[in-house]
Amino acid sequence: MEKFYITTPIYYPSNKFTLGNSYTTIVCDALARFNRKQGKDVFYLTGTDEHGQKIEQTAKKHGVTEKEYLDAMIADAKDLWKLLNISYDKFIRTTDDYHEHAAQKIFTKLYEKGYIYKGSYKGWYCTPCESFWTESQLVDGKCPDCGREVKFQEEEAYFFKLSAFGDKLLKLYEENPEFLQPKNRVNEMVNNFIKPGLTDLCVSRTSVKWGIPVEFDPKHTIYVWIDALSNYITALGYGSEDDSLYKKYWPADVHVIGKEIVRFHAIIWPAILMALDLPLPKKIYGHGWILFGGDKLSKSKETDEKECIDPRILVPRYSADAIRYILYREIPFGSDGNYSTDVFLTRFNSDLSNNYGNLVSRTFSMVKKYFGSVIPENKSLTNEDDIEFKNNVLKLAGDVFAIMEKYDVTKAIATVFDIFTEANTYIQKVQPWAIAKEENGQDRLAAVMRNLLEAIRIGTELLQAFLPDTATKVLNAMNLDPNANFANMDNFDGLEAGKELKPLDILFPRLDVEKEKEELKVIANS
Ligand code: MSP
Repeated sequence: MEKFYITTPIYYPSNKFTLGNSYTTIVCDALARFNRKQGKDVFYLTGTDEHGQKIEQTAKKHGVTEKEYLDAMIADAKDLWKLLNISYDKFIRTTDDYHEHAAQKIFTKLYEKGYIYKGSYKGWYCTPCESFWTESQLVDGKCPDCGREVKFQEEEAYFFKLSAFGDKLLKLYEENPEFLQPKNRVNEMVNNFIKPGLTDLCVSRTSVKWGIPVEFDPKHTIYVWIDALSNYITALGYGSEDDSLYKKYWPADVHVIGKEIVRFHAIIWPAILMALDLPLPKKIYGHGWILFGGDKLSKSKETDEKECIDPRILVPRYSADAIRYILYREIPFGSDGNYSTDVFLTRFNSDLSNNYGNLVSRTFSMVKKYFGSVIPENKSLTNEDDIEFKNNVLKLAGDVFAIMEKYDVTKAIATVFDIFTEANTYIQKVQPWAIAKEENGQDRLAAVMRNLLEAIRIGTELLQAFLPDTATKVLNAMNLDPNANFANMDNFDGLEAGKELKPLDILFPRLDVEKEKEELKVIANS
């Protein structure tokens, strides 16, 4: 069976999770679900990046231990993923024992192979914050965090020989033009980082206590990237006694990440893997950001916003599917996109309630009225309009599969909705209510109803990866197994004639946009 290994970055649990850091996870969920429905053996990994000074400081601020702080944050993150219907197969915490051991093994192996050496880290040190800063990070020559005096200091540290990998990375991009997507991110890596010359990377600290100790020199902790990036293989058991998952799923089919961490995934991670003699991931996809009034929903800024962007409030009011929909649809995959309450509520009504919801409910009503809810047979079509409609729908469905090969969730969901638009236009054009009045109209009416139901079936099967709750309801109402893989996606033979459609509640009850806007504003500002 073909496998598909997909990962999100592991999240910093230093602040409450919101819409911004739900984006990668929601995107990966659609890709994971779609591939499962294609019959692939999918492994979807997500998790949390739990070491470093920031966590140490935040826990202290809250008056709790790091572990207590993290456990509460991780419970909250898992609740949020549940609320948003995220179907991950594994949640890795970098404080998990197996990860800590494996990360240590990786560090030691790189040291033994000569890719890690001992040197010294120089920078401006703020004693109260226990932080090193570079010259350019200082604000008026003072610590950017607390504004106090800093002093130039040297600290013993281990370095990874990143400088040895420039040519190998250039060769990698050249020989695998698909490795890093979207394409413009390749130029960025080459021109901004590789061509000017890669410098060796500091990979340990003695001043950071909340980290994994270096096995052979425990006064050092492993600094950020070797710890964090290695999660993609340690989660599969690499470096542990049982590495069967690693053998089965590595290399990853795709690491989906935000654009600000492309450098770490497209330069540092492949270099580490090359140094370890391990296969490289097949693809790195650097998506854009959700912007909010032109700003990234940065974790610290999110709480200041006056519009409601907390999924814990939005999901119970509008459903997980609606929130998922707006993110797939409004943020063009690979680029930045704006989120606003206004656009969300408007699209809720126009796309979900009208285009899809109304199509399903009016079709079900017509089949009930004209055929007592019994699904008509799939006979060969004779009417031009009916044939054209069927061909258009099948063509669009084929397009969705091709688009999903490129992971473009935005284009894919827009194309699924084109199927529904096509179906609504078809209803207007053929006017089933007029055919029903024709003397010999029964056969044609049956053909039209069958056509509509099949278009809904195909669109809904495709939609299931994106809007799982809604699609599952509709598939059930059509007597289809919602857990089945894609079948009959290139024909109109997927529904069993003679079976009855089951009653279906309104999928997305229309919203009073102005009223909702007002209420959300009050909630967000209270
Ligand atoms: N811990 C590192 C990743 C290590 S991976 C080996 C990290 N964590 S993060 O919590 O800051 O970000 C996690 C993901 O959330 C990133 O892909 C980031 O781009 C994404 N997003 C956070 N805010 C976002 C938006 N406003 N819009 C889209 N994605 C955003 O980086």
